[in-house]
Amino acid sequence: MSDFPTSGVATPPPPATHASPLYPLRLTINGEAYTLEVESTVSLLDLLRDRLQLTGTKKGCDHGQCGACTVLVDGRRINSCLTLAVMQQGADITTVEGLANGDALHPLQQAFIAKDALQCGYCTPGQLCSAQGLINEGQACTRDQVRELMSGNICRCGAYPQITDAVMTVLEEAQGPPDAPEPSPAHWTPGTVPA
Ligand code: FES
Ligand code: FES
Repeated sequence: MSDFPTSGVATPPPPATHASPLYPLRLTINGEAYTLEVESTVSLLDLLRDRLQLTGTKKGCDHGQCGACTVLVDGRRINSCLTLAVMQQGADITTVEGLANGDALHPLQQAFIAKDALQCGYCTPGQLCSAQGLINEGQACTRDQVRELMSGNICRCGAYPQITDAVMTVLEEAQGPPDAPEPSPAHWTPGTVPA
């Protein structure tokens, strides 16, 4: 006789016999100290969203492809879906909830509003944290560099020009006036080919 069930009803999985071990974890998140115990397999993203209810950080792909889950760890931007929470022992983490200073929005948040840099807003928390990480890195000066270095943050609404505008606004304020003005475009007459 066959051992396989003959009905169409799925057999429930056997009850787990071993609970996963918990590991102590100390983190500072948005300036607040946390003492936690987590399984070794919990991602930082799931810890933030599911255990600490910091749901501002978004889960898009859960595979490091979209940037929606970007947070700052010790000032550096990372995809929180790609790191295990226990790997961040002692880290200082900033999520989108920690950007504003009380009721005063972060300059990037103000710029995103002023430049209309969002539509549905799902990518926005990751864009904001990534932009702050970009500014911290000090590698971007131009629009092209901002576009390149923010290319890991996907916006399905296609708000890229406005996002770049917003980031450039804050970047230029952070960097101060440029040493040398950018060369102005050559004068040319419409309908002719510039020399
Ligand atoms: S959810 Fe982490 S990169 Fe997409
Ligand atoms: S504003 Fe909708 S995905 Fe970016």
